[in-house]
Amino acid sequence: MGAVSGPLLQWFEENRRLLPFRQEPSAYHIWISEIMLQQTRVSAALPYYERFVAELPDPAALAACEPDRLRKLWQGLGYYSRAANLQKAARIICEKYGGELPADYDALRALPGIGDYTAGAIASIAFGIPAPAVDGNVLRVFARLTNDDSDITRPAARRAVTRLVMQEMPADRPGPFNEALMELGALVCLPGGAPRCGACPLASICAGYAAGRAGTLPNRPPKPAKKTVQVTVALIVGPQGVLLERRGETGLLAGLWQPPAFEESSALTREELSVRLAALGIQVQWSGTLPQAKHVFTHRVWNLGGFWGQGQAKKLPENYVWADISALRREYSVPSAFSAYLEPEKLCEITGICP
Ligand code: ADE
Repeated sequence: MGAVSGPLLQWFEENRRLLPFRQEPSAYHIWISEIMLQQTRVSAALPYYERFVAELPDPAALAACEPDRLRKLWQGLGYYSRAANLQKAARIICEKYGGELPADYDALRALPGIGDYTAGAIASIAFGIPAPAVDGNVLRVFARLTNDDSDITRPAARRAVTRLVMQEMPADRPGPFNEALMELGALVCLPGGAPRCGACPLASICAGYAAGRAGTLPNRPPKPAKKTVQVTVALIVGPQGVLLERRGETGLLAGLWQPPAFEESSALTREELSVRLAALGIQVQWSGTLPQAKHVFTHRVWNLGGFWGQGQAKKLPENYVWADISALRREYSVPSAFSAYLEPEKLCEITGICP
C-alpha cells in the first residue's frame, strides 16, 4: 500500500464536517461524543450531545448528576448502560485524576465503558497520543484499500487493521489521521455496497477499487437471527394519569419506566393480562386493542401489542406510579420501544388523553 496519510489528511482538511465536538475538542467533549456515536449516527446524536454537555459541562457535573436526570438526558439514545458507565468513569476521574481525563491510553482504557476504540479516539484526538482507533468505518476502509476479504468480525482481522493504522499514522498528527479515516468511512467509503470511489482521495492506491470489488468488501458474515419476544403491554389509564412500572436495576433497559408489560414467547390475551395485573392488585376494564409495534435491539426483537383500558388499584406495588402527561414528559425516562404507545400524540390517539 502506498502512503495513505498525505492525501487522506489533505482531503480531511477540505471536507471534514464542522461538528460541535470538533470546535471545542476537550477530552471530555470527545469522550461524550464518542460514546454517543457508538450506536447512533452523527446527525441523530447531535441534539443529545448539545443538551448533554450544556447541562453537564465537565466530569464533576456528570459525576454529581442524579441518575434519573441522567436517564432522562439519555432517553432516546438507547443502551442506558453506556450512560451509567459514563457516570461511573466520571466519578473515578474526579477521585483519581482531579476531575480531568488522564492523558494516558492505559489509564483511559481502564475506565468503565472505555474499550480499545474509545481509549484510542480520546488519546489521539484530545491528547495527540499515537494510538489506534479502529471502528467499523476504519475496518471497512482498510478491507477495501488492501482488497482483503477475510472476515472482519474476527479479532485477527481487527489486529491486522490496527497494525496497518499504526504503520500509516503520522507521528505528529495521530488525532486528525484517526478522525480522517472515520470521516472517510462516514462520507465516502460508504457501507452497504455503495462506496463513492469517484470522490475518494485514496482511489489511486486502493487495491479493492483496482480489482473492481470495493463495493463487495468488507466480508462480514450475516449475523445469527435475533431472538424474538412477544411483549404484551397494558396501557392503563386512571384518574391520576397513566400507569408506569419501573424496570429492574439490571439487564435490558435497566431502571427505565414503561407501561406494565409481559415479555413471553407468545402474546397474552386480555383475560391472561387481567389475571397478571390482578395479582399486582390492579383492576382493569379493557377499552381497546393497542396497535402492533416492533423494536429491534442488538440481540433481540420485541413484537409489541396489547390492550388499553381504565384501571385502578387500592395500593400500587413498589416501583409503580400513576404519571400525568406533564410528569411523563419531564420526569420519567421511557424506552423508545414504547414510543408507539406513550409519545404524547400516540397516547392521545389511542386513549383520548391529550396534552
Ligand atoms: N464516528 C465516531 N466518531 C467519529 C468522529 N470523531 N468523527 C467522525 N465520525 C465518527
